[in-house]
Amino acid sequence: MKEVNVLVTGAAGQIGYALLTRLASGETFGSDVKVNLNLVEVPQVVSRLEGSRMELEDCGFNTLGTVKNFSDMNEASGDVDWALLVGSIPRGITINGKKIEERADLLKINGGIFTEQGKALGENAKADAKILVVGNPANTNALIGCTHGNNESQTWMAMTALDANRAKAQVANKCNLEISDIKKMTIWGNHSPTMYPDLDNAEIKGESASGWINDQNWIESDFLRIVQQRGKAIIDARGASSATSAANAAIDTVKATLSETPADDWFSSAVLSDGSYNVPKGLIFGFPLKADANGKISIVQDLPISEYAQEKIDLTTQELLDEKNDIKDLL
Ligand SMILES: NC(=O)c1ccc[n+]([C@@H]2O[C@H](COP(=O)([O-])OP(=O)(O)OC[C@H]3O[C@@H](n4cnc5c(N)ncnc54)[C@H](O)[C@@H]3O)[C@@H](O)[C@H]2O)c1
Repeated sequence: MKEVNVLVTGAAGQIGYALLTRLASGETFGSDVKVNLNLVEVPQVVSRLEGSRMELEDCGFNTLGTVKNFSDMNEASGDVDWALLVGSIPRGITINGKKIEERADLLKINGGIFTEQGKALGENAKADAKILVVGNPANTNALIGCTHGNNESQTWMAMTALDANRAKAQVANKCNLEISDIKKMTIWGNHSPTMYPDLDNAEIKGESASGWINDQNWIESDFLRIVQQRGKAIIDARGASSATSAANAAIDTVKATLSETPADDWFSSAVLSDGSYNVPKGLIFGFPLKADANGKISIVQDLPISEYAQEKIDLTTQELLDEKNDIKDLL
């Protein structure tokens, strides 16, 4: 059997718990690929990973390879093909007696983590490794990791697939359609409430989704608000942040890069801007993406951007520039 080496940080957290079985079951990499898992946690909870390892063993997946637990990223990142960086410090946690509420403080604390993780992956992971940052603030964490990874042959992404899935679900409900009827969903910009889900360039049965929906008021008010605020709505309802849907979106992102993207579709993720759509180079920014048969990712070019969409894209760009400014000492 072929093998794939996958590193997961924050593996004892709630997204980690929802993610591991789906990585190991054969669903993600195929029934002919053994999945070797390197699970990473902070030293205080690394022992919990032994429980995850035992559960994975008890699932009886033919596709499960080795499961190793780590609290040291340098040891964990040797030869990995994929790194799913889920672990990060949440807003509201108290560190050294101070409650971390300010975005700038949160960015700096997580920045320290992603500096080390980026270096470890840049030095030890495979040359063509793909790294997906889930831990928030995901785009700026990925920017820090990518900078310190300093390895151009590796691909860094920040997850916006959950936002794209949320957007598709809202459109499917509104139009009484199947999710699979909705293609080419783009989330522009930051994984934050400034993200811009684009229905002009999304398609329903080959037509522009905004044309099909034909209700600009719904698009600009309800749709935008629901998608942008969905994370908070779930926290309010569940008392905890999205976990199953976040893990599912991470799996979707991995799968999207494992084979050539169909001609009638694309996928959403944030990647390092090359200046496409006048987004400043060097931001990790949500774009429409395609993968080729070798897993190489490129940004879909030449989409029309309305004046309204441009305003929204400018807003999320500015937020990412502000975040970058907050952590400039770490770059
Ligand atoms: N991008 C998205 O769409 C999206 C969606 C949902 C959640 N998130 C984010 O994902 C992150 C994880 O969410 P969760 O619900 O699993 O949180 P959680 O608190 O349940 O788990 C996080 C885990 O990360 C671990 N961790 C912290 N720092 C670490 C480090 N340096 N190395 C390794 N592990 C570390 C913690 O010990 C904890 O077990 C949060 O930042 C959350 O905001 C992102």
